[in-house]
Amino acid sequence: MRKDVRILLVGEPKVGKTSLIMSLVSEEFPNVVPYKVEEITIPADVTPERVPTHIVDYSEAEQTDEQLYQEISKANVICIVYAVNNRKSLEKVTSHWIPLINERTDKDSRVPLILVGNKSDLVEQSSMETVLHIMNKYTEIETCVECSAKTLKNISELFYYAQKAVLHPTGPLYCPERKQ
Ligand code: GTP
Repeated sequence: MRKDVRILLVGEPKVGKTSLIMSLVSEEFPNVVPYKVEEITIPADVTPERVPTHIVDYSEAEQTDEQLYQEISKANVICIVYAVNNRKSLEKVTSHWIPLINERTDKDSRVPLILVGNKSDLVEQSSMETVLHIMNKYTEIETCVECSAKTLKNISELFYYAQKAVLHPTGPLYCPERKQ
């Protein structure tokens, strides 16, 4: 049994990484957010899988590449966040973030990735079609989820999937958008 789970959020600036963490913790959307929140530890008894869970934010504005690489190597699961209303931020998932993470992690013990499309409150159309193509190409992506820090849609699910990716890594593909 694992002692704890360390979740790192990365992605382009302004996609809502800090807002996602703050929305999870306070159960409401923060109107004002800092660039980065300090590491948060959620005690075992309030997590779905009963394992202490650390959530780590990243901000390009406040951290060096070296600090980012260190966090990548310490993480048990990495959420790559994009904004569903920002195509560029999704393109960067494959052009920048996945290669960068793969370079920094051991090929044999690759860290599971979760693709997180935030700001789903701002669009009618889902990005799932593009995302499923990406998932077919990169086996290290464990699952994907569209969510909104603003409406709290799929926020607790996101962190549950992240825990699950570490504790039960070969779980079946689950995309909430495709369930209906
Ligand atoms: P960096 O610190 O630059 O890396 O940004 P970040 O990815 O941490 O994003 P942050 O949480 O600072 O959010 C950026 C902006 O997007 C803020 O103005 C948030 O209020 C807004 N935002 C975040 N999540 C949502 C969301 O789900 N819906 C909407 N409509 N706006 C959001």
